[in-house]
Amino acid sequence: MLDDMLMIKKYGGDIIASRGMQAEKGFRQHGAVSTYEHSVDVTRMCLRLSRGLRIRTDQRSLVRGALLHDYYLYDWHEPRTEGGLHAFSHPGKALKNAARDFGLNEIERDMIRCHMFPLTVRPPRFRESAILCLADKICALRETCAGLGRRIAG
Ligand SMILES: [Fe+2]
Ligand SMILES: [Fe+2]
Repeated sequence: MLDDMLMIKKYGGDIIASRGMQAEKGFRQHGAVSTYEHSVDVTRMCLRLSRGLRIRTDQRSLVRGALLHDYYLYDWHEPRTEGGLHAFSHPGKALKNAARDFGLNEIERDMIRCHMFPLTVRPPRFRESAILCLADKICALRETCAGLGRRIAG
């Protein structure tokens, strides 16, 4: 079994090295975590969940869709005048950017589009998308709680 980071590099090395993904290092996600770190953490969580729950997946799509799920390419903490509420609008923006910069298959498109379910109404159509939904929420909660812990501790 390949180490998760090796697996991520094998299937998503071009994504990691891309200008857009590198720019994510400058965007804050939750607490002190950048969108880049969040995306890699979520990808690792997807691989752990699929293994732990023994769900058979297309691992290449799982890695690529997870890496790109928040590829909206802005800092959502900055005030914006267009695009609507971030929580609802960013999957569509991420999908548009990812389709422009990388070739996406049907699974990867569905993963990005549906990762905020059930906040957004369209349910996941593939196992990979359902795993991403769960992994994203676990990581977001962990990142938010880590930030709270730091704040309370001073
Ligand atoms: Fe997201
Ligand atoms: Fe996310």
